Amino acid sequence: MLFLVSGIIPSFLNHGKSGESKVDKHLQTNMAQKLYIQTNGCQMNEYDSAKMRDVLKASHGMEMTETPEEADVLLLNTCSIREKAQEKVFSTVGRWRKIKNKRPEVIIAVGGCVASQEGAALQKRAPYVDIVFGPQTLHRLPELLNKARDTKKRVVDISFPQIEKFDALPEPRAEGPKAFVSIMEGCSKYCTFCVVPYTRGEEISRPLNAVIAEISSLAGQGVREINLLGQNVNAYRGEMDDGEIAEFSLLLHYVAAVEGIDRIRFTTSHPAEYGDDIIDAFAEIPELVSHLHLPVQSGSDTILENMKRGYTRDEYLQIMDKMKAVRPGISLSSDFIIGFPGETDAQFEDTLDLIEQVGFDFCYSFIYSPRPGTPAAEMADDISEQTKKQRLTRLKDRLNEMTMAISDSMVDTIQSVLVESVSKKNPLQMTGRTENNRVVNFTAHPRLAGQFVDVIITQALPNSLRGRMFESSIDKILKN
Ligand code: SAH
Ligand code: F3S
Repeated sequence: MLFLVSGIIPSFLNHGKSGESKVDKHLQTNMAQKLYIQTNGCQMNEYDSAKMRDVLKASHGMEMTETPEEADVLLLNTCSIREKAQEKVFSTVGRWRKIKNKRPEVIIAVGGCVASQEGAALQKRAPYVDIVFGPQTLHRLPELLNKARDTKKRVVDISFPQIEKFDALPEPRAEGPKAFVSIMEGCSKYCTFCVVPYTRGEEISRPLNAVIAEISSLAGQGVREINLLGQNVNAYRGEMDDGEIAEFSLLLHYVAAVEGIDRIRFTTSHPAEYGDDIIDAFAEIPELVSHLHLPVQSGSDTILENMKRGYTRDEYLQIMDKMKAVRPGISLSSDFIIGFPGETDAQFEDTLDLIEQVGFDFCYSFIYSPRPGTPAAEMADDISEQTKKQRLTRLKDRLNEMTMAISDSMVDTIQSVLVESVSKKNPLQMTGRTENNRVVNFTAHPRLAGQFVDVIITQALPNSLRGRMFESSIDKILKN
């Protein structure tokens, strides 16, 4: 059919490589199966969703769609970190069921942490879900899809074959100047409140060479900023070619040596394994941004112990002091859990006191959500919901003030900004990010995308900054 159509098209349309016409391409894209992905949860899930898109493009030539109604495969990448996230799953697949009722050939697949935890039980409650797969089996999606279609039966694969996943993934594709690269999977910390070790399995690191090869490939495609991803990146222990083990700080040095990589971030590190070698890395590696997100969860030693976090308040404060010493003005941020079982007023005040001592930038804070199967879910809890909400509001208000004060203090300073894309709100403006991860909008030419420029900050807004490109930056670009 395609051949016949291309045979009758006028020759002036035949511009494609290998004799393929624009009409051919148009028809192929139109005929390509369509994939819709909804991603809930963390950056790791965002990363995994991009990989799901890549494997299905490679295996089935699938193209992404923004409209669930026109999709052939509807894929939900789920999160179970808190109850609210988990509740979303059934409402979303419930909506998708209507699409499947109209077009029974549509495949509904559920992946991620809820899938990992529920397994086949998910299909008991939602029998119209065809495929259930876990975070470690996303590379098997092509087979799972074929199986579901061929057998017309429900399929489940939530095993943990772990690192096999990375070997089976297609070459990474850069989308703009920033990229995430997963360096490890899972978590073996077993904090008493957290479901991650159960849904994503134990910690396992990718070999050093595999990580560096992925980063080099991305750098070759124009990526300038790498965000190293893992639940607990400083537990990284990657095998090297000579059989030796590289720790996280050594990996940082290798990443910084990749040509073209000028900014390195990592998400998320853990205070219990935050050794002096990582602090030294900040002194030695200019590519590491002056921003550290180090979740503390609570400022009370008793709560930290009950959470099984593996460090004291003092140890955390010492790390923060050392970081401030090697990087004056560094932006520090954290995650907080409010209302952990038994948290007293005094223990909550300890958290408020800790944030005053550290002086945080943009943080995340959550009310504790009991997760089935975790030790904390069994702990006695006599604190009312109302008290928890009041505490959260107090904490958030103070954290917001701190964030805004930092934004205000950036006005009239010159910031290095990695230009990302044309601003969504104003086509004459470009948008980029500072080292401390603030969005900056400023007037600039679109060809600056992917470059670092110096920007004078002119205004601090609640969620972004405005700026003006600094003249030396313009000179530099004109010379290039
Ligand atoms: N690996 C990261 C955390 C991953 S989960 C670390 O070690 O810090 C992201 C954040 O969700 C956590 O830092 C914590 O603040 C929050 N969180 C995890 N489990 C939670 C629960 N049961 N209730 C409320 N918040 C939770
Ligand atoms: Fe969760 Fe603690 Fe690991 S918060 S991801 S078990 S470090």
